[in-house]
Amino acid sequence: MQTVSNSIIVEKVKTSKIDKVDFKNLSFGKYFTDHMMVCDYKNGAWEIPKIVPYQPITLDPSAKIFHYGQSVFEGMKAYKDADKNVWLFRPLENQKRINISSKRLAMPELPEHYFMDGLKALLKLDHKWIPESEGSSLYIRPFVFASGNGFHASPSDEYKFIIACSPSDSYFAGKVRVLIEEKYSRSADGGVGFAKAGGNYAGQFYPTQLAVEKGYNQVIWTDDHHHEYIEEAGAMNIFVRINDTLITSPTSDRILDGITRKSILDIAKDENIDIEVRKITVKEVVEASNNGSLKEMFGAGTAAVVSPIATFGYQNKDYDLPELDNSYASRLKKRITDIQYNRAEDKFGWRYAV
Ligand code: COI
Repeated sequence: MQTVSNSIIVEKVKTSKIDKVDFKNLSFGKYFTDHMMVCDYKNGAWEIPKIVPYQPITLDPSAKIFHYGQSVFEGMKAYKDADKNVWLFRPLENQKRINISSKRLAMPELPEHYFMDGLKALLKLDHKWIPESEGSSLYIRPFVFASGNGFHASPSDEYKFIIACSPSDSYFAGKVRVLIEEKYSRSADGGVGFAKAGGNYAGQFYPTQLAVEKGYNQVIWTDDHHHEYIEEAGAMNIFVRINDTLITSPTSDRILDGITRKSILDIAKDENIDIEVRKITVKEVVEASNNGSLKEMFGAGTAAVVSPIATFGYQNKDYDLPELDNSYASRLKKRITDIQYNRAEDKFGWRYAV
């Protein structure tokens, strides 16, 4: 049946598949909710978004996404509190960032109201899919890709914007082992590293596979010039604690302007933690580990939230991080998740009611 709500066309499923999903064993990004939002760009304009049953998409083999990789995405989460109210975390930041990414890939920007209204309508319809257990949430994946046809290496004239949702557990189970990259690069000055472009992640898979073969979970990306500075941790921003100072790399052409990253910086400031936003050399991290001043390293991102690093590998040697009782990672993770799940006051105004 089709209804029209606030100019969004809604076609509901006849039967929900929610009963087929074991919410006690979700893992990450494996199951999908009953509906998805689809919005087409044709003839130079975005059409009215539609909410339809979650389903495969049919594309022509010449669709430009397959050949030239014009595709950007976002990662967001919806959280359910103890009273079953539904919350988003700084969603307008994702809406702005998808347009920054689109612009860099010569793709059309989305109107804010289509992103937000479509997302809210989808979450209202699929609210039962938002998990309630600790650490679980509904992972939301908005993405835009080139659906227009033709082998000419130029921007597509048609695009699809889709929002799909997946009830998910945490991204990593436990602490992670990372390898500091000495050969491959994730991004370069003037490139697309700051954008959430699909290709940025595809380019990481091979070096990450090599690291996994050596017993690590992730690569720590270093700069493309001399692999001298640490920049990101896998698909997350990176934080290093030396003595009591929390350090993270400044954003740049090469580094994603992570929403969790900037929220962690604001919370750390509020906790009176000393912060430095500056370049961090590999040499400094190795030396700090050797002299005992390296207290913590952790990744921060939407999917992984705050992921403590247990060990880093560099030049065929492993360096273990100490186990701390009251780590910055655990304090900061608690603060941010208490805001996200509506368990604490939100003095920053980041929580967004659905
Ligand atoms: C996120 O943290 O939401 C991301 O986009 C990373 C993704 C590769 C899981």
